Amino acid sequence: MAKTPTAPLDLSDPDLRTRLLPHCRVQPGEIWRDGTSGHIVGCGDAADAGFVERLCESADAAALAVHDPPYNMVMGEKRPPDTYATWCRRWIDLTERSLADDASLYVWLGADQNDHFQPLPQFMAMMAGTRFDARSFITMRNQRGYGTQKNWMAVRQELLYYTRGNPTFEVQYTDIPKILRGYYKDVGGERTENLQRSRSETIRAGNVWVDIQQVFYRMEENVAGCYAQKPLKAIERIVAASSSEGDTVLDFFAHAGTTLLAGERLGRRVVTCDIDPIFVEISIRRLERWREDGRPGWGRSHPFERELSRRDRHELAAVEAGLGRV
Ligand SMILES: C[S@@+](CC[C@H](N)C(=O)[O-])C[C@H]1O[C@@H](n2cnc3c(N)ncnc32)[C@H](O)[C@@H]1O
Repeated sequence: MAKTPTAPLDLSDPDLRTRLLPHCRVQPGEIWRDGTSGHIVGCGDAADAGFVERLCESADAAALAVHDPPYNMVMGEKRPPDTYATWCRRWIDLTERSLADDASLYVWLGADQNDHFQPLPQFMAMMAGTRFDARSFITMRNQRGYGTQKNWMAVRQELLYYTRGNPTFEVQYTDIPKILRGYYKDVGGERTENLQRSRSETIRAGNVWVDIQQVFYRMEENVAGCYAQKPLKAIERIVAASSSEGDTVLDFFAHAGTTLLAGERLGRRVVTCDIDPIFVEISIRRLERWREDGRPGWGRSHPFERELSRRDRHELAAVEAGLGRV
């Protein structure tokens, strides 16, 4: 879902793409290796076996994959849902080959309420035919939505959690304080109240996440032009829950490089790719920006501030100024 009513940097605009592509250091089929933390970032198709094999060949088997494919609804070409599920099966099979025996897989997905909730049911049915076990169906609440006039506002974002073998799982806590007292239980002959027994002052993250702010242009982590950027907090929650320091984490749909940045911040090695060289370049620049001065994104600016002229910057600023209503 778009982060702003009119994206300040429209990376689908052919003229803009023509100007930016020469500045992308990783071209289709190429793979960039990070000399500092060992991350690997490729430009290629997640469903192309030859490309994915090359991408993953030098990495350890991954403990975790976090995939956020295009949802077959908002952006890009819309395929019949079964065709979409067949395409998903291809990158799911390639993921399986690159995972450790004990591993977790998370997939973000949409459900189009105007079209029988596709492609969620088709994807779930496809996964039932794989060797992954279904573990949780998480819903993250977005702050902005669509369909408010004659329907319930659509503010949910679906996240499916699968495992195989017996992977690590570390309980995660939100920032929401525990306020409910009660639930008395006898422990060692003593009557204890639930707050005494708990390991945290704040509540555990369950399978409904209401505590994560959707990314928008006023946030420092914002990456202009990345219409589908996930909040860093959400990806870090997944990485922290389902992998350990030093583990390899896969993400075949890099976009704004959120998994790459989360992995860098949490000491994981990330193997990621995107079919679009512009998003590959943005992902690498985001990592570099974080290393340079600890900034997680560009806020009101954008990743190509060096390349775009002063006039472009003024135009972007004017568009952003018109977005004050968000
Ligand atoms: C929903 S976005 C991912 C968002 C990402 N999780 C983030 O937080 O920025 C999907 C991305 O998948 C990429 N993509 C689409 N088809 C692809 C394919 N066949 N192989 C690899 N990447 C693909 C798109 O270019 C887009 O950047």
